[in-house]
Amino acid sequence: MPESGQLITLSRAARLIGVVRGELQKKIQQGSLRAFDGMVTVDDLLAAYPRAQLEDDTEQRRVALIKEKAFGKRIFERAMPDIETLATRVTELSKELALSQLQLTQFKTLLDRLGDQLVDIGKQPEADMKGAVNGVVSWLGEAVSAALVPDALNPLAVRDNLLRVAAAHVTVLPSGHDFFIDGPDTLLEGALRSGVPLNYGCSGGNCGLCKAKVLSGQVKKTRHHDFVLSEADKAQGYVLLCSNTAVTDVEVEAQVAGGVQDIPFQEIAATVKSHNLINPEMLLLHLQTPRSSRLRFLAGQYVNLRLAKSLTADLPIASCPCDDRNILFHVRRMPGNLFSDYVFDRLKAGEVVEIAGPEGDFILQERAARPFYFFALDTGFAPIKSLLEHAMSLEPDEGIHLYWIGSGEESIYLPNVPRAWADALDNFHYTKLVVGQDLAQLTALREEALLKLLQGIFSAHPEIREGDIYIAGPEAASRLTESLFLDLGMPKTRVFLSYRSF
Ligand code: FES
Repeated sequence: MPESGQLITLSRAARLIGVVRGELQKKIQQGSLRAFDGMVTVDDLLAAYPRAQLEDDTEQRRVALIKEKAFGKRIFERAMPDIETLATRVTELSKELALSQLQLTQFKTLLDRLGDQLVDIGKQPEADMKGAVNGVVSWLGEAVSAALVPDALNPLAVRDNLLRVAAAHVTVLPSGHDFFIDGPDTLLEGALRSGVPLNYGCSGGNCGLCKAKVLSGQVKKTRHHDFVLSEADKAQGYVLLCSNTAVTDVEVEAQVAGGVQDIPFQEIAATVKSHNLINPEMLLLHLQTPRSSRLRFLAGQYVNLRLAKSLTADLPIASCPCDDRNILFHVRRMPGNLFSDYVFDRLKAGEVVEIAGPEGDFILQERAARPFYFFALDTGFAPIKSLLEHAMSLEPDEGIHLYWIGSGEESIYLPNVPRAWADALDNFHYTKLVVGQDLAQLTALREEALLKLLQGIFSAHPEIREGDIYIAGPEAASRLTESLFLDLGMPKTRVFLSYRSF
């Protein structure tokens, strides 16, 4: 145990200073940050990150958002001050709490020392005791005065108290997943946003599939549900994750999807929210499901779309399961293909599109604890984007690397998306490469060009061998890429392939 300082978990510490847990773990391994049973003190944290962005007002804004939602009822509107005043008061209370915590720690240390000194006095000859006691009394007076007015308040302790008001930490057992609930999110929404695939069905309080047991902490019902929990369930602490939020840090016992076999096949009538040209050859299709019938899927999977009664296509989902109502697809212009022609030329906003699925096992091996290497070939970026967004929401300790390999410049059709990720995230690395050959129509010459490019990547970065490889794009080009990694000695269990791009 540390002599002083409040202990916090690595997840919370990473959030406080805005880094991934992996960075803190590295510092612990290197010995530049002390850890006690997987926790660190805010004092040590500030010493390791003296330039932490403490002026960031994100937490204050979150507090404001929570208050805005929570105090919507009239009685609270009358009884409570305005949101900004509340946020300021919470900040002030956070400082007072941090001061009290610091003083408590200092007094505890002081009492320990006092105990040691009294033991020492007890060992001295009687004649020396009076002088020794006087010395201790004088030391105690000074020490108490110093403890009452500490030199400086650790700003991270203040920020941590504020964070505790704005966000609750949720641990899922037995899987060990954890995430934060921000603002008014339900437990289910918080989990999905963080990439934790909790078991659920309707998201709307009807099916009961999200029933879970609260093991510790407080939750609060924030949404009505029609599903009826029995009195026995309630007495044992069962709640619906889609209707409750976390009031304090909580532990819940809940089922998490372990693989594609845990995701049911669904048929949903969605509507076209928008369909916008990305460039003359590519279109972004945004479908929205009904509120009460969302699409449950794992990142990297595909679905069958049916529109205009009979036009169908299998398309990889280009968004992440963290938003199960808004489903995105990348559609390529293919003159003569009836589905593509309809989407580009005749589709209208509001039109119904039937979704059937999900299918496919091109999903993230998130527990592998190895770096992620993604190889998107042309439109293979669609399923890769879904995987990437999911990988990023997991805040992995290992690095995330994307190689987007295009037939031509225009094949890298969303260049700003990975660029923005690379700017925003320390552990995301993006490389764009152009082959100058049509990857959808491989010939011997084109194979050679692709292989040369891939071999160049591998010889410059042999450490790729340590990671998991995800490849998506046109079939022949994807298989060729897979075979290169297998020929280089990588096991088949660490190379994943999808050629279901449209
Ligand atoms: S997901 Fe159906 S009741 Fe919660």
